[in-house]
Amino acid sequence: MEHIEIDRAAEPVIGPGTQPQGGKKVFVKTYGCQMNVYDSQRMTDALGVDGYSATERMEEADLVLLNTCHIREKAAEKVYSELGRIREVKREREKAGGEMMIGVAGCVAQAEGREILRRAPVVDLVIGPQTYHRLPDALRKARSGEKVVETEYAVEDKFEHLPQPRRTEIARRGVTAFLSVQEGCDKFCTFCVVPYTRGSEVSRPVSQILAEAEKLAGAGVREITLLGQNVNAWHGEGLDGAEWGLGRLLFRLAEISGVARLRYTTSHPRDMDDELIAAHRDLAELMPYLHLPVQSGSDRILKAMNRRHKAADYLALIERIRAVQPDIAMSGDFIVGFPGETDADFEATLDLVRQVRYAQAFSFKYSPRPGTPGADMKGHLPEQVKDERLQQLQALLAEHQHDFTQSRVGMRFDVLIEKPGRRPGQRAGRSPWLQPVIVDETAGEIGDIVPVRIARVEGTTLFAETA
Ligand code: 5AD
Ligand code: SF4
Repeated sequence: MEHIEIDRAAEPVIGPGTQPQGGKKVFVKTYGCQMNVYDSQRMTDALGVDGYSATERMEEADLVLLNTCHIREKAAEKVYSELGRIREVKREREKAGGEMMIGVAGCVAQAEGREILRRAPVVDLVIGPQTYHRLPDALRKARSGEKVVETEYAVEDKFEHLPQPRRTEIARRGVTAFLSVQEGCDKFCTFCVVPYTRGSEVSRPVSQILAEAEKLAGAGVREITLLGQNVNAWHGEGLDGAEWGLGRLLFRLAEISGVARLRYTTSHPRDMDDELIAAHRDLAELMPYLHLPVQSGSDRILKAMNRRHKAADYLALIERIRAVQPDIAMSGDFIVGFPGETDADFEATLDLVRQVRYAQAFSFKYSPRPGTPGADMKGHLPEQVKDERLQQLQALLAEHQHDFTQSRVGMRFDVLIEKPGRRPGQRAGRSPWLQPVIVDETAGEIGDIVPVRIARVEGTTLFAETA
């Protein structure tokens, strides 16, 4: 994606799957990006065929699966400390006569492989993201006492092998859904592990994407977010035999009855083609939000990062997008303290941010990832410099986000109602720009798209009165 992250791996997302129906239970804990959230659901679906149902309580799980993220250091360390905690829960459960298998999936599994068994012998099963279709078999082996490591993959298409989610499960997961259309990355940014953990770029065939989208819509999903590590690199043979890009695909998906909103993430600046930009002008279902990471505003650093574009190219691209969709919410990712980054380089990043004025952004201190070219570069910066730069950048980004949020006050637009609100009498939804919006429960039912007027803002949350 360029990797898209739910709060960028800080907060784990607990991902439930099927409802308990007796039989065995699986507890899945998901770290990192939306692709992992999606994969966790697919793994739960796959295990459902073998009689496993999801639980949100680890103590009652016969299988605990950690779906891990390797994008930054702390994420892997968190996995090891979590495994320590799980070992205690397993002990308690075994004392009471139960069983608990422990599996590690995701990018840490892919990157560390057998090392995980060495550092955490309590683990029964290690499975990388390219081999999830082998999960049920791997689990059977592990249950017979074998330690299983599944990280080798050839040309199999993981898209083909996982079962489609059942209608009732989709409905239970809500009115918004992820749909994976592309996996892997060939860009090899010098800081990034994704090309190593997720493999090379693969696009999912149109027919499979449409089948899954139809299924989602049939189960009541109103908003679909297309996922890919490099989602706008997606391409495939269209229904007319012609080569389609993501723009064409979005137009086709919008024809599915019930699909009211479309999003996609994460995009690479080099893969934003004319048709995709035109979709932001012509396709009402395509929401005005674009996550388009730039990482740095310095050409010298962009080159060292192997981003293969300059700051000016990126700014020109945003100008083209804004020319067709002036009110688009731009979102981005930034890395501060890449090896060799000078004060002037960092200033160039701040300068780019001032020009773009992001509605939302994620920023990180550079973390050397073993095996990536960046880790071996000269000029690694002291933590303190990284800390200071991160603070300065985040203050600027927060200011712009605040301005964007404030600019919605008094505006009228449609909100998709997604779930009950935290307080009685409220429901929670999203604006076209992906902002949380609180509406009165009289505004409509979950799944409705209702016109509202924004009365006020608290933090990044909008509060609506029905228009
Ligand atoms: N150090 C810090 N941040 C990183 N990211 C990816 N790799 C690293 C790294 N080694 C950030 C990038 C990417 C986002 C998902 O995570 O900004 O877009
Ligand atoms: Fe994104 Fe670059 Fe990593 Fe690919 S290598 S996922 S383009 S950051």
